Amino acid sequence: MALLEVDGLTKSFGALSALRGVSFSIEKGEVLGLAGPNGSGKSTLFNMLTKIPTGPDAGEVRLDGQSLKRMRAHQIARAGLVRIFQTETDFGDLSVIENVLVSMPPETQPGRRAGRGVAMALLAEFDLADHADQPSGEIGVFNRKKLMIVTALARQPKVLLLDEPAAGLSKPEVKAMIALIKQINAKGIAVVVIEHVISLLLALSEQLIVLNYGEVLARGNPRDVVRDPAVVEAYLGSAADDV
Ligand SMILES: Nc1ncnc2c1ncn2[C@@H]1O[C@H](COP(=O)(O)OP(=O)(O)OP(=O)(O)O)[C@@H](O)[C@H]1O
Ligand SMILES: [Mg+2]
Repeated sequence: MALLEVDGLTKSFGALSALRGVSFSIEKGEVLGLAGPNGSGKSTLFNMLTKIPTGPDAGEVRLDGQSLKRMRAHQIARAGLVRIFQTETDFGDLSVIENVLVSMPPETQPGRRAGRGVAMALLAEFDLADHADQPSGEIGVFNRKKLMIVTALARQPKVLLLDEPAAGLSKPEVKAMIALIKQINAKGIAVVVIEHVISLLLALSEQLIVLNYGEVLARGNPRDVVRDPAVVEAYLGSAADDV
């Protein structure tokens, strides 16, 4: 049984078909890459999986064999499907550690001190401990992206959904982000990562899906997918020469 099974996800906004019958599955510990042109439905797919703000018009999602059909957003996160957003969503006026504490489920905070201990350990793991008491709005883009990932990890996901974690990063920071995602994956957490940075997708994904106009245009081994003439035509263009 797959860890995450997505079957026929469909969503329209008025006349616009944002997702049409998208299906895939991932196994425990797998990394799935998700690419596609702007507006092809990538973020909408994450919205539908997590029901933030609403679920799909049609389709089924199962996590560990359990249907998400009747679950609300917070129950889905608690069941282990946790996302980060495409834009920074930290609370810039709160300190870095407070940002982690507010995202920790109550059961992982047996007491205030113990909760701080868990949060500090997570921050240390991702080289953010030195920033713990700084307002998160002041720590720079790369550290804020790492902080968003840490706050997601504080929710103890089975599957982590990352929406463009490398957007706006320099080349060395992209490399560091790849290493960081590998580090998360090595804990046994499955990852679905949306990116336009193809080098990141090639470095991480076991499986790559390309969406176009809300439909799966291509899927499979990442190196084959980026050379697929339909993908080059619709999305990559001459960028495919670089990979
Ligand atoms: N709440 C909404 N209401 C109306 N239209 C929406 C809504 N959310 C998304 N859309 C539309 O659905 C389509 C898919 O958007 P989505 O954000 O999923 O694209 P994306 O693949 O993530 O693009 P990008 O690479 O630019 O982030 C777009 O045409 C977008 O304008
Ligand atoms: Mg998007």
